[in-house]
Amino acid sequence: MPSTTDSVHVCGFCGKPLEFKELPKLFGMQDKDKDGNDKPFGFYQDCKCADAVKYRQECEKAEEATRKEEERKDFYKRLKCAGIKKRYEKATHELEPENTQKVLEGKSLYICGEFGTGKTHLASAIARKLIWKRKRVRMLTGIDITMMLQATYGSSESEADVLARLAKMPILIIDDIGKEPPSDWVLSRLFAVINARYDEMLPTIITTNYEKSALVERMGKHGDHDTAEAMVSRICEMCELIKLTGNDRRLA
Ligand SMILES: Nc1ncnc2c1ncn2[C@@H]1O[C@H](COP(=O)(O)OP(=O)(O)OP(=O)(O)O)[C@@H](O)[C@H]1O
Ligand SMILES: [Mg+2]
Ligand SMILES: [Zn+2]
Repeated sequence: MPSTTDSVHVCGFCGKPLEFKELPKLFGMQDKDKDGNDKPFGFYQDCKCADAVKYRQECEKAEEATRKEEERKDFYKRLKCAGIKKRYEKATHELEPENTQKVLEGKSLYICGEFGTGKTHLASAIARKLIWKRKRVRMLTGIDITMMLQATYGSSESEADVLARLAKMPILIIDDIGKEPPSDWVLSRLFAVINARYDEMLPTIITTNYEKSALVERMGKHGDHDTAEAMVSRICEMCELIKLTGNDRRLA
């Protein structure tokens, strides 16, 4: 057994020698000391005096707190990357658990209601839970999508690349569809995204002020009416409807 009077192997709190716990040598292990004698294999056990125990508990607590803080920072970074806005980064909603479950089962959602009824809030609460579960989520407004596509002119990324990325995103949230200025150009791009996701049965969460028939009217206003109908028809089959009612929470 190694010397227990060695100052390295005494408790820093009470000064008692630490107990050496010898373990059976593993096959083929040959550890010799400087005189060529077999070295025991094992470890010095932690001291069980009150101060040493308290110190170890405090260290464990501090490590756990650091780990939690790192996890929290990483989570908020992932929310930001996914497009969740600061206002909604702490969003929770009573309808979130059941609807997150639906999305996890591959279903899509159509969250519809008047201004300020909590559509973006609910979609963000669902996104938070999905991101917490490390699912790949991207949340964009209809206007963001329009701007992303316009930004491809003169850039190295093509419009087709952006559309393909949106089409393939495992979970896509299109916030406020219909708010973008209606045009044939916007309609045909949104149709391409929705149609691709419909074909691949990828979960899509849509929030809007427009009921489905009103969305056809809105999107078809300056665009091809048949394309608007075809897009909303796919949305109808893909999505479960969640209608949010009540007053505008912003005015409350
Ligand atoms: N369930 C809720 N609990 C707490 N705050 C909420 C809840 N729902 C909505 N809010 C808050 O109310 C405000 C309006 O909600 P939100 O932005 O989600 O409305 P909206 O339906 O998306 O409106 P719009 O149609 O104008 O986009 C936000 O500040 C939001 O965080
Ligand atoms: Mg909104
Ligand atoms: Zn001790």
